[in-house]
Amino acid sequence: MKEVKILSFGGYVPERIVTNNELMTVVETTDEWISSMTGIKERRISEGENTSDLAAKAAKIALERANLKPEDIDLIILATTSPDNFTPASACMVQGIIGAVNAFCFDMNAACSGFLYALNTASQFIKTGQCKNAIVIGAEVLSKIVDWTDRNTCVLFGDGAGAVVITASEVPGILSIHSGSDGSKGMVLTCPATPLTNMLTKDETTKCYIEMNGREVFKFAARVIPDSVERVLKEANLTLEDIKYIVPHQANIRIIESASKKLGIGIDKFYVNLDKFGNTSAASIPIALNEMHENGLFIKGDKIIAVGFGGGLTWGAALIEI
Ligand code: UT7
Repeated sequence: MKEVKILSFGGYVPERIVTNNELMTVVETTDEWISSMTGIKERRISEGENTSDLAAKAAKIALERANLKPEDIDLIILATTSPDNFTPASACMVQGIIGAVNAFCFDMNAACSGFLYALNTASQFIKTGQCKNAIVIGAEVLSKIVDWTDRNTCVLFGDGAGAVVITASEVPGILSIHSGSDGSKGMVLTCPATPLTNMLTKDETTKCYIEMNGREVFKFAARVIPDSVERVLKEANLTLEDIKYIVPHQANIRIIESASKKLGIGIDKFYVNLDKFGNTSAASIPIALNEMHENGLFIKGDKIIAVGFGGGLTWGAALIEI
C-alpha cells in the first residue's frame, strides 16, 4: 500500500462581494441578525461563472503549484451539490478545460462533507496503486440553488472553489481519514432535483431550492465535529496538542464555538473565514486550506485536522501532515 500526501493547494472565488447590507435590499433581514446569528459578513456571488469554471480555475492554480503537467494527472474528483449539468460531470468539464487528458473524472455529492469524501475516495485510488496523482476539488455555485425569497437560507450561502493535488508518497501525509452518513435524517437539509414529471405523472409541487431545518442541522453539527476530531486523533495515535489547526466546514461561528467548548480547546485553534465567504458547502474546507497556505499559516511537518458535516446527512474528518 502506498501513502498519500497533499502536494499543493489552489482556490478561486468570484470577484463580486455581496455584503449583509446589500442583502437587506433582497429579503427582510439585517446585518445585525446575520452577523450575530452566523458570523457571516459577506459572501461571493457568481455573475455568470458556473461551478466547472470556478473549479477549473482553482485546479489550475493547484496544478501549477504542484509543478506537474496536466497529463500527469490520472484522477479528478469534483465534490459539488451544484454541478453545471446532470451530464457531463463537472469534473469532466474541468478535465477538458485544463487538458488533463490521462485522467478519469467524476463528480461526488456529499453536500458540505463533499471535499472530505472526495479526498478519502481519491486517497484509496492512490493507496491501491491505481492512480499516482489526483486533483480533488470542492466547488459550488450555491447562488443558483438558493431561494432568494427565503431569508432563512439565502443569507447563509456563497459561491467558490478550492482544490488540492495529492500524490503517492513514501511518507504518510494523510495520517487518518474517515467518512460517515445517516440517511435516515436526510430530510433536515434538502435540495430537490428536477421534479418527477413524465408521460405518466406530473409533479407541480417540487421547488428545486435548498430547504433546511437549521436547528436540527446545528445540533447535528455540534455533535459530529468533536466526535470526528476525536476519532481521527485516536486512529492516528495523536492528541489535540499535536494539532496546529482545526479547519472546520465554514457554516456558522456558533457551531464552531460549540465544538471548541466540547473539545476543551480555544476557538483560536480553529481556522475561520466564514465572515468573508459564508457557507460555500463542499468548497469551504479547500478554500480555507488554500487561504492558510497563501498566508503561510502552516509549514512542512505541521499537523492539521479538516472536519466537515452537511446534507445527507454526512460528515467526515482528515488528519493531515503538511
Ligand atoms: O452546511 C450545513 C448547512 N447548514 C448549517 O450549518 C446551518 C445550521 N443552522 C444554523 O446555522 C442556524 O440554525 C441558523 C443561523 C440558520 C438559524 O439560527 P436559529 O437560532 O436556528 O434561528 P431560527 O431559524 O429559529 O430563527 C429565529 C428567528 C425567526 O423569527 P421568529 O420566528 O423567532 O420571529 C426567524 O424567522 O430569526 C428569524 N430569521 C431571520 N431574521 C432576520 C431567520 N432568518 C432571518 C434573517 N434575518 N436572515
